[in-house]
Amino acid sequence: MKFNIAVLPGDGIGPEITQQSVKVLKAVADRFDHEFNFEEAVVGAAAIDLLGDPLPENTLKLCKKSDAVLFGAIGDPKYDNDPSAKVRPEQGLLKLRKELGLFANIRPVRAYESLIHKSPLKPENIEGADMVIFRELTGGIYFGEKSTAEDGRSASDLCTYSVEEIERIAHLAFKAAEERRKKLTLIDKANVLETSRLWRKTVTEIGKEYPGVKVEYLFVDNAAMQMILNPKQFDVILTENMFGDIISDEASVIGGSIGLLESASIGTENALFEPIHGSYPQATGQGIANPIASVLSAAMMLDHLGLKKEAETVRMAVELSIKLNVCTIDINKDNHYSTERVGDFLESVISDTEGHIVN
Ligand code: IPM
Ligand code: MN
Repeated sequence: MKFNIAVLPGDGIGPEITQQSVKVLKAVADRFDHEFNFEEAVVGAAAIDLLGDPLPENTLKLCKKSDAVLFGAIGDPKYDNDPSAKVRPEQGLLKLRKELGLFANIRPVRAYESLIHKSPLKPENIEGADMVIFRELTGGIYFGEKSTAEDGRSASDLCTYSVEEIERIAHLAFKAAEERRKKLTLIDKANVLETSRLWRKTVTEIGKEYPGVKVEYLFVDNAAMQMILNPKQFDVILTENMFGDIISDEASVIGGSIGLLESASIGTENALFEPIHGSYPQATGQGIANPIASVLSAAMMLDHLGLKKEAETVRMAVELSIKLNVCTIDINKDNHYSTERVGDFLESVISDTEGHIVN
């Protein structure tokens, strides 16, 4: 089959990890006889440097007409330390999510058997942990009205949600729970926030359409603690934009490295695939960044395009690399492989139809 894939490497380690995913996808195309057309465009700080705009018109156009978007990372410290900057790299990603209508961000989290002893958490607490976080992505405090008073002495970010915004992601999360262990945990702050109370009410109502799924409610502060104490209790987590951002970084500790966590951002027309980690500027150009989060995001892309067998092949290659410790320094301290060598290994496993490497 033929697909058009927009590639937005972005900032920091974005280009080097995305390059490995493209390599992997090319190997998939060769092995399974598909045609993937990759077209690159700038976004984030790289786009500001080049064109003064974190999401140039041509980049948005390309994403809109593509079958899927492969996204690297965004962010540059020169903006983080300048609170008065008018244009910021992150605006590129936020605008892209909004323009493409990517309302659901899906973030799977699992504990890999061979990495359990590398997590700072107790092995017995994380062994078998397997959850998927459904983070609302185009609403809430991220997108509410923002203002700073003229005298600079106060500022405001408004948090707003509508029933429709909650319903559309809730349905996706309930459907996923039906296919999994049939439990959905809504994370909110309904003891304080009006928007959270709307989430609870709406999700309770929708839950009636999915009688096989057990619904639980957790306040976000308690959820942050439970994520470390007993992550095995979670199956599908449903939550609003900012809580989802925070909880998913925390959950990455279970997997052993944030460099392993992939995500899919889904809308009605478009879909974008990106690691949950940031642009890791300190590591840029050193060949030490873990490409696996990006490669697993590419696997989610293959699933989304209906290429299940192909996605499974990529996941198997990743599992083999972890099992054999063909890994970057974040998980292989003693004898680490470079970003590129991990990519080369994955490519060779995927191309190895004779099973030389696997056996
Ligand atoms: C993420 C990132 C983004 C977010 C930033 C870069 C705007 O942290 O995708 O989790 O906060 O959503
Ligand atoms: Mn984040």
